[in-house]
Parts: sequence; structure tokens; C-alpha cells
Amino acid sequence: MSAAQNLGYSAIQVVHNFGAVATVAGSLIASKLRDNAARHRLARLVLVGWLTQVASGATFGMVSYYYYHQFPDISGIAIDALAIKMVCATLGVALLTLYLWQGAHWSERGKNKTWASTSALAIIAISAAAFLRWFA
Ligand code: HEM
Repeated sequence: MSAAQNLGYSAIQVVHNFGAVATVAGSLIASKLRDNAARHRLARLVLVGWLTQVASGATFGMVSYYYYHQFPDISGIAIDALAIKMVCATLGVALLTLYLWQGAHWSERGKNKTWASTSALAIIAISAAAFLRWFA
């Protein structure tokens, strides 16, 4: 692998890692808070985190395609792990978008459930990342 390609993957990985921190830490902190204004600010951060994961995750694939003219040849557990991450990110984006749009009208119980769900999704996604890394 050339230095340029390694540099490309490393730069994307830096962005991807910060996106992961935003989704996991932002969701867990918000699930402990009861202050709606602070939660609203965290919701924006976590949504940006999920979107960052989708964009940077796709960019990993694009860099591979640029250099090899094909996507990485992964199968089995690696594919399952990638699919889990994609589902978590899609649900995360949907939940946070709904929360920012309509959350002000939801009950406290509904808001708490949303933060518990997005925390669970982030933890599942970051755990799946380990399987993708080592089974790819
Ligand atoms: C559409 C969603 C996503 C895609 C397409 C994607 C794709 C990828 C790819 C291709 C890698 C490199 C795998 C390798 O080193 O072989 C990676 C690594 C990683 N991803 Fe994602 N990802 C997504 C979402 C997420 C989410 C939501 C999280 C965490 C909340 C996450 C956390 C990580 C971490 C921590 C790594 C580094 C794993 C390691 O090297 O140990 N990803 N991801």
C-alpha cells in the first residue's frame, strides 16, 4: 500500500473516530441529563456524529475503489458487522432528526427512551466496528 493511500485511510479514520466518540459519548451524556436545552445541543452534536460516520464510512470504500477499482472483498462476519453499523447509523440519523424536529412536544418518558435507544445504537455500532476490523 502506498504512503498516499495509508495517509488517506488514516485521515478518514481520524474523522471516523471522532464521529464515533460524538455518537457514543453524546448519547450517553444526554441520557443522564434532564435539561432540555442542553439535550437539544447534544442532539445536534450526536446527529452530526451519525452523519459523519455515514460519510466517512463511505469514504473508506471510495478510497479503496480509487486504488483497486473495486470495493474491499469482505464476507461473512465482516459483512454482518458492516450491515449492523449501517443499520445503526440509519436509525441514529432518523431518531435524532425526529428528536430535533418534534422532540419539544414529546413526554419526558419519550425523550428518555430516545436517548436510551440512540445510546444502545451507538454502543452496538462501535462494538460491531471491532468485528469489521478483525474479520475483514
Ligand atoms: C454507514 C456507517 C458506517 C460505515 C460504512 C463504516 C465503515 C467503516 C470502515 C470501512 C472501517 C474500516 C474497517 C477496517 O479497518 O478494516 C470502519 C472502522 C471503524 N468504525 Fe465504522 N462505519 C460506519 C459506522 C460506524 C459507527 C456508527 C461507529 C461508531 C459509533 C463506527 C466506528 C468505527 C470504529 C471505532 C472503527 C475503527 C475500528 C478499528 O480499527 O479498530 N463506525 N468503519
